Formats: sequence, C-alpha cells, structure tokens
Amino acid sequence: MTAYKVVVLPGDGIGPEVVREAKKILLTSSEIFGFDLEFVEIPCGKDYLKKTGLEWPENAFEICRDEADCILLGAVGPHKKRPLDKPNEGSSMLFGLRFGLDLYANVRPVRLYPNVLHRISHEFKQVWEPDNIDFVVIRENTEGLYSPARGVVSRAENVEMAVDNRIITRKGAERVIRFAFELSKLRDGTPKDGKKKVTCVDKSNVLQGCLLFRKVYDEVASNYPDIERDYAYVDAFTQWILRKPECYDVAVMPNIFGDIITDLAAVLQGGMGMAASGNIGDEHAMFEPVHGSSPKHANKDIVNPIAAILSVHMMLRWLGAKKKQEKLILASRSIEKAVASVLSEGKTLTYDLGGDAKCSELGNAISAKIKESKVM
Ligand code: IPM
Ligand code: MN
Repeated sequence: MTAYKVVVLPGDGIGPEVVREAKKILLTSSEIFGFDLEFVEIPCGKDYLKKTGLEWPENAFEICRDEADCILLGAVGPHKKRPLDKPNEGSSMLFGLRFGLDLYANVRPVRLYPNVLHRISHEFKQVWEPDNIDFVVIRENTEGLYSPARGVVSRAENVEMAVDNRIITRKGAERVIRFAFELSKLRDGTPKDGKKKVTCVDKSNVLQGCLLFRKVYDEVASNYPDIERDYAYVDAFTQWILRKPECYDVAVMPNIFGDIITDLAAVLQGGMGMAASGNIGDEHAMFEPVHGSSPKHANKDIVNPIAAILSVHMMLRWLGAKKKQEKLILASRSIEKAVASVLSEGKTLTYDLGGDAKCSELGNAISAKIKESKVM
C-alpha cells in the first residue's frame, strides 16, 4: 500500500498541541479505514527563527512542493519584537506556501455544531439553531491586498508615505469564483430553503478591482444557471451574516475581505477554536486552523483542538477526491461525525466550549468515537 505523505509544520505557541491532536485523529482514521500515512515533520516558527534566523529550513518549500501529498500547518506566532519597519508575519512560510504553491482558494467553513454556543457575548442567549449556520467563505488567496506590491517612501530616514496596492486580476478572480460555484454544486444549499447560492462579496460601488471581480462573477455565474446569484457589499455583509446566517451557502470574496469576514464569522461558530481551513490549488493543498498561535495558552494542554481536527477532516476529503480513494472520503466523513457527536454529548469539552477537558482529552474522545463508529 502506498503511504500518503503528510508534511506537518507544527509552528509555535499552541500550534504543536493542536497538531498533535490532529495527527492523532489522522492515525486513528488510517488504522480504522485502512490506508497508510507517512508524516514528515518540519520545524518552523518563532523558536526556529530565533535559533537559525530562518522561518523554516532551506529545503522545506521544495519538500512541500515536490514530495507532500498534503500539508498540515499548526500556527505561527508573531515575532516577539516585531520591527515596525516591515510587515513580516509568516512572510516566507505562510505566504511562501499560499503564493508559492498557488493555493488560490482559501476555504473556510462556518458551521455551528450542535451544543456549541456562539461567542457574541456571554450575556447573550443563544439565538440560532445549530442547523441554521452552515456556509462556506471562499477567500481569494494569492492576490488582492496581499500581493507583495507595496512599499514606503522615506526621506531622511523617516517613512513619509506607505502604499499597499490591491491587485485583482481576471485570472485570479475567475478561478476562485469558479471554485465557489463548483463547491456549491456539492453542497445542500442554504439552511433556510436548501437552494444553492453563491454570494459575491465586494465593494464594487467604490473600488475598481471589485468591479472587475463582480464582472467576472457574472460571467462565471452564467455557466451555472441552477445556482442562485447573490451580491453583497462587504460592509453590509458583516450585518447580514449576523442577522440572517441561514440565508448563505457559499460566499466568495477578495483576499482581505475574506480575512476579516472569517474572524467575524468564527464568532458565529463558537469561536476561533472551531474554525478550520484549507488553502487549495489545482495541484497542492495546505490545511490549517484559522486561529493564531495564542502564546498565552501554549503548553498548558487546554486549548480546543477541533479547528485543527476539522482541518484534517477537510484534508482527507480533498486527498480522497484527488486520489479517487473512497476510503479517505469515508474517513473524512467519520471525523466530522465524531466531532459532532462528542460535542452533542457535551461530556468532554474544552474551556472555550464551557467544559474543563484538556486539549488531549478532547482529541482522545474524538478518536474513540471514530473507532466506535467503525464497530457499529
Ligand atoms: C489568516 C491570518 C493570516 C492572514 C496572518 C497570520 C498573516 O490572519 O490566515 O487569516 O492574514 O492571512
Ligand atoms: Mn486572519
């Protein structure tokens, strides 16, 4: 049996802890569903940088590009004393992978699982049924405001002007919008009425790049007559996802809007501990929890590993489709089912979910559920 090679980049802060639990789930799945995984672990992040002056080893990118079947990233924290003269967060590693492997669709599901409370305010009673929140944000991932087209003008060592150009291309918009429509085809539509719908989120009332994005959206949409077209300006969209999340199925948007919207949307799904993601291209894919490295919670075995675990659920689904391996798809489904069932039981929950279980205990409970599901 060929082993699928998973390159693992645990990173720092809580990264290694959540990755440990995600690996546990991958191992259980491979045992139960009968496939082989080979893990290649690559050190990276703050501590590695301190020791070596590099974010990750010299040949790490090549290993990801040439050898990996898929990639799992934990979290990489901001450098402690971040020099204020240059934005530098995850510059060579995170963007090295997103841009270098052309992972153009950043897929961020927003789903509220049973027995999970939204995180709007502790004072606020639950207002949504879990089934009412189940949409996916598709964030463009290789251009927009994240294009490295920026710089400063300095005079006498003073920065007097700074500029970040937002680049939107026809090619970049077209492929990510098509990705969104293809995803909608596979889903069950909006929780409200089961109708398939792709929402174009932009600011085309003001920005040229967004006008192009919306124009390309219309062109792509015309190839999908069975999927409802929907448009939202990003400012209004922040309201709509709070007021009527049940009306959304898939929402596609330029890079920076997706970055901001998915932190907001995480509140609807029970916090960052529940928000998973996949950075997906035509050849490669990298999966990571949306949360950061949260140094203050690190090494205490207390954080919620579900964002990382749901990220490997997405990973196996992607790999299964790519390799045409039903086993991997079944394993992927069983991970999500196990997560939902542990959450519903409510016996093993981390602090953010209202319990006092450890990160490793929640991982163990999910792993046990996967084993049980196979017996039944
Ligand atoms: C995310 C993160 C990154 C981003 C940071 C860490 C550079 O916020 O994945 O959403 O802005 O894309
Ligand atoms: Mn972000």
